[in-house]
Amino acid sequence: MSHNLLKGKKGIIFGALDEKSIAWKTALRCVAEGAEIVLTNAPVAIRMGEINKLAEQCKAPVIGADVTNMDDLDNLFLKTKEHFGGGVDFILHSIGMSVNMRKGNDYTNLNYDYMHKSVDISAMSFHRVLQTAIKHDAINEWGSVVALTFIAAHLAFPNYNEMADIKAMLESITRSFGYQYGMKKHVRINTVSQSPTVTTAGQGIAGFDGFVSFSEKMSPLGNASADQCAEFTVSLFSDYTRMVTMQNLFHDGGFSSTGVTEAVIAQMSK
Ligand code: NAI
Repeated sequence: MSHNLLKGKKGIIFGALDEKSIAWKTALRCVAEGAEIVLTNAPVAIRMGEINKLAEQCKAPVIGADVTNMDDLDNLFLKTKEHFGGGVDFILHSIGMSVNMRKGNDYTNLNYDYMHKSVDISAMSFHRVLQTAIKHDAINEWGSVVALTFIAAHLAFPNYNEMADIKAMLESITRSFGYQYGMKKHVRINTVSQSPTVTTAGQGIAGFDGFVSFSEKMSPLGNASADQCAEFTVSLFSDYTRMVTMQNLFHDGGFSSTGVTEAVIAQMSK
C-alpha cells in the first residue's frame, strides 16, 4: 500500500547489495511512495551483487562509487545532478564493513591498517558523502539524510568488535554535520539504530543467529524487520519529520530501553 509520501522527491540510495540488504528494501519502498532514485554501490559490489535487478524494478540508474574514493563521490553527485536536472531531497547511507571481523581478529588483537579501512568505509564515508554533497550543492532545502547504525555504539556487545567504536563515530558525524547542514540549508541528518537483521553484513558477526533470538526475546515489540526499517526511513525522508535532526533514532522494538524481559528470565531459570 502506498501513501505517496515521497511524491516528487528524488534521492540517492547507497548500499543495496542483494534482496536482503536494508538499502534494497528501502529503495523499493521509496519508489513505491512516489520517489525517483539513483542507486549506488562499490564497483566490486555491483559486479558481484544483484543491484541491476533492483535497478530494473526501480527504473533507476546505477552509478558506481567506492565511498572511500573522492573522485568516485564527485562523479556520483555530478552524474546524479545531471540525471535529475538538479539536487536530491534524500540520501540513505547503508554501508558497513569491518575488515578485522572479516579476518577473524578479536577486539583485543586488532590490525590497525584494517581498522583504518573499516573506519573509512563505515564512518568517515558519511563525512565524505556529506562534504561532497555540500561542495556540489547537491541536497535541496529541507532535504533529509539517514545513516544506519547499531546500539553497540552505546552499549558493549563483544562480538560487534571494532564496529562499535566506528558506529559511535558515525553517530557523532551525524550530529556535527547535522548542525552544519541544518544551518546552511535546513538539511536534516539522523541515524536509525536498527534491530539485528539477517543480511550479508549482519551475518558477518560471530554468534549472530543467537543474538537475533536473544534480541527478539528482549524487545517488547520483537525485532524490527528490514521492511519495517525501510518504512521508518521513508517517514524520515517525508515532509512529516522536517524538524527532526541530529538524532539517533532507535528502531528496535524497544530493545534499547529494556533491562530484562520475563521471557529472558524464564530462559535463565531453566
Ligand atoms: P549489506 O551487506 O546488505 O549492506 C552493506 C553495504 O555496504 C553493501 O551493499 C556493500 O557493498 C556496501 N559497501 C561496503 N564497502 C563499500 C564501499 N567501499 N563503498 C560503497 N559501498 C560499500 O548489509 P545491511 O545489514 O543491509 O547493512 C546496511 C547498514 O545497516 C550498515 O551500515 C549496517 O552496519 C547497518 N545495520 C545492520 C544491522 C544488521 O543486523 N544487519 C543492524 C543495524 C545496523
